[in-house]
Amino acid sequence: MNQRKTINIEHKGLHYCLMTFGCQMNERDSEILAGMLQEMGYQPTGELNKADIILLNTCCVRETAENKVWGRIGELKALKSENPDLIIGICGCMTQQSEMAAKVRRRAPHVELVFGTHNVHRLPELVGKIKEERQAVIDIWETEGNIVENLPSKRTEGIRAYVTIMYGCNNFCTYCIVPYVRGRERSRLPADVIREVAGLVSEGFKEVMLLGQNVNSYGKDLEPKTEFADLLQELDRIEGMARIRYMTSHPRDFNDKLIDVIASTEKVCEHFHLPVQAGGNNVLKEMNRGYTKESYLNLVNKIRKKMPHASITTDLIVGFPGETDDDFRETLDLLQQVRFDAAFTFVYNKRSGTPAAEMTDQVHDQVKKERIQKLITLQNSISQENNLAQLGKTHEILVEGVNSGNADLMEGRTRTNKLVFFRGTPEMTGRLLQVRITEAGTWHLDGELI
Ligand code: SAM
Ligand code: SF4
Ligand code: F3S
Repeated sequence: MNQRKTINIEHKGLHYCLMTFGCQMNERDSEILAGMLQEMGYQPTGELNKADIILLNTCCVRETAENKVWGRIGELKALKSENPDLIIGICGCMTQQSEMAAKVRRRAPHVELVFGTHNVHRLPELVGKIKEERQAVIDIWETEGNIVENLPSKRTEGIRAYVTIMYGCNNFCTYCIVPYVRGRERSRLPADVIREVAGLVSEGFKEVMLLGQNVNSYGKDLEPKTEFADLLQELDRIEGMARIRYMTSHPRDFNDKLIDVIASTEKVCEHFHLPVQAGGNNVLKEMNRGYTKESYLNLVNKIRKKMPHASITTDLIVGFPGETDDDFRETLDLLQQVRFDAAFTFVYNKRSGTPAAEMTDQVHDQVKKERIQKLITLQNSISQENNLAQLGKTHEILVEGVNSGNADLMEGRTRTNKLVFFRGTPEMTGRLLQVRITEAGTWHLDGELI
């Protein structure tokens, strides 16, 4: 069921265009889709009217993400009328929702290929089938299969490479659709991850970002069992990889061993992205997050005790069903206590099929709007103050390339994931350099080489 089949259709001289929506997991899947398309003989193009196949790798975490996809699908209709041979396909999280494949076919018959998150490896076969049979192909797997290793991949060039270490999520936070569209947790074997990361060194990558919805439960499903902390220790030994990052960590599963390993390893960066979602214990309980405000603060204290200069960032949701003014004040209070370096802030959005969508005490849109504004204002001022505290300090940065807004500037990141702009030259890309911070904004720092 999970084997790749070789197919004998020639696709040389043809072009593909891949549009990716959503998180880094999707970005990484798109690199694999691109790898398979290139292995089939397709070349990438950014020009839609030159493409012979257009694939949309979709996200459905919030309604806005889905609306973007529907907007794009609509725009592609005219292209299909002009070029009936064009294959338009949709894959990714959105397609795994129940009835979605039928909805796509009904609303957008020009989309002829629909597949899901569990069978990405079948793309060549599915494209071959469309070409042979000249009819729409829908292939959605209800459940996840085994992990398919050694798929071709065309990585986005640069300094940082994404490496998926596990798929799926078992947490079922009551607001979240991800477990329904990505299936249960499955970890890759440590040997496969280590081999991939070692290979990235020879391709010139300097930083690896390990991906999973909850990397802290890495290895629990493997035999013999292993832990994320053990994997980090193994990866830290790979010569030539300068930095190791990971996302996302679940605060409930962040144990002392992991904190110790991060503190003691050379390459694992001191940046903790710990999505808290809310500050009120009632809300956290209703969200099924498995921790309290107090235990979260305790975790933050433990991290700061071992690594006083670590940065901590988070995700926050306002307007979860039943969130009262008092609950929201608890969230603001948590922000004041932790003083996050940055936060991704979201307004709660009903996702059909999740328990929270059925909760009767939904918060009014106007209240949600007022709360998110207050939250953003407070967080921005904290981010700015934290950045101001960096003035005059020296940081090691990994240079990522030329600044997109000003070609005279280069940019890189500190180990704590802060973006730093500085005067330099493109040859510095990929090097670890020391900079002194000279100015601080809310979103980035300015520095000078020392
Ligand atoms: N696995 C990660 C975690 O546990 O935090 C992140 C997964 S999700 C892709 C990224 C963020 O989207 C979540 O941390 C949450 O803040 C937000 N999110 C998920 N579902 C949401 C919803 N229904 N409405 C608003 N925000 C949501
Ligand atoms: Fe969604 Fe929660 Fe899983 Fe994160 S841990 S993907 S928020 S269910
Ligand atoms: Fe979206 Fe799927 Fe990621 S729903 S956020 S692309 S796991």
